[in-house]
Amino acid sequence: MNSICFTFLVFKIFHFFHQHPSCSNYQQIQTLANDGHEIAVETISLQMGLQDKGYEEWVGEMIGMRSILKHFSNVSANEINGMRAPFLKPGRNTQYKVIEDFGFIYDSSISVPPSPIPVWPYTLDYKIPHECKSGTCPTKSFPGIWEVPLNAHFVESYEGGHCPYMDQCVLHNHDAEEVFAWLQEDFERYYYQNKAPYMMPFHTNWFQIKELERGLHKFLDWTQTMPDVWFVTITQALTWITDPKTNKQLGGYEPWNCKSKNTQTPKPCNISNKCALSFKEPTSNISDTRYMETCFDCPAVYPWLGDSHGSGIPGRDNYIDQSEGGPGSSAGRDQGDEEEQK
Ligand SMILES: *[C@@H]1O[C@H](CO)[C@@H](O)[C@H](O)[C@H]1NC(C)=O
Ligand SMILES: *[C@@H]1O[C@H](CO)[C@@H](O)[C@H](O)[C@H]1NC(C)=O
Ligand SMILES: *[C@@H]1O[C@H](CO)[C@@H](O)[C@H](O)[C@H]1NC(C)=O
Repeated sequence: MNSICFTFLVFKIFHFFHQHPSCSNYQQIQTLANDGHEIAVETISLQMGLQDKGYEEWVGEMIGMRSILKHFSNVSANEINGMRAPFLKPGRNTQYKVIEDFGFIYDSSISVPPSPIPVWPYTLDYKIPHECKSGTCPTKSFPGIWEVPLNAHFVESYEGGHCPYMDQCVLHNHDAEEVFAWLQEDFERYYYQNKAPYMMPFHTNWFQIKELERGLHKFLDWTQTMPDVWFVTITQALTWITDPKTNKQLGGYEPWNCKSKNTQTPKPCNISNKCALSFKEPTSNISDTRYMETCFDCPAVYPWLGDSHGSGIPGRDNYIDQSEGGPGSSAGRDQGDEEEQK
């Protein structure tokens, strides 16, 4: 059997701290996508309480984000397969209905409490096979939709606590060797047991502390010495899970081939447009300036809910009753692109 180790899921977070003017760099996202990293969506506004909102809000956040990525990074909608709810608060059945209707393949929002045996990705045909930590998991069946759960990271002594995002464990006073040992023990719980995929979710915080970054590098170097550890994206992992191969076969396994560029996202420009844009939340009177970089033309205003192109016309976007057939899976998938042609 093979152990799969995923690190390079790049979740797009539109802005990180609400209270700061936001910076979004769509040239860098295009670079990541062109290099073969997988981009997924995590809402435009990072609004609190989204888990209890309706279908339209979820569509506006998720399909709007997909449209922004298309428009400013040229990442095509059919390469965006996954989504994550803000604050790991899944949107009950509503979010999963959006996943189904708009042709996504997986969600990765459900966290698993610390467990001696990690949980593998599962489809939502059946009941969730673990406690729902957030309390807002789907309760209906969504056949064929994948959940890639966030297992809690921890060590047996509970030093550093436990966390779905690795930077949320308290390791910032450790040196690089200790960080390495911690990651190793956490990883080995997967590797020597059921070999569930080891997902490493990070916020950028981790990379602002030298010792954490050094410890991570030591860990990555160590995993590279093992013949049966592979670094793949979530979609690549799911492809393997649905049609497993032996370690020996993986040498020539096309879906995991890093050299064949299977991304449609073209190379980014060398010099991006740096856009300073006015931004006003639809419900507020206060406007400020936000910044973004892109290889494409600067929009008129900062792209936001209902106006993913930044046209300056609030409420311009309508993803729900647009094309013939509405958000059917294939029509839904193409919507980002259809939008471009208007
Ligand atoms: C966007 O990417 C597509 C390929 O996916 C390419 O054909 C098209 O020319 C690109 N558009 C721009 C404006 O670069
Ligand atoms: C970007 O710079 C590289 C190296 O200088 C050059 O080879 C390439 O053609 C440039 N690409 C664009 C799109 O200008
Ligand atoms: C927004 O502006 C309008 C008109 O200038 C004013 O009547 C209203 O009180 C303002 N609302 C807030 C929340 O400041």
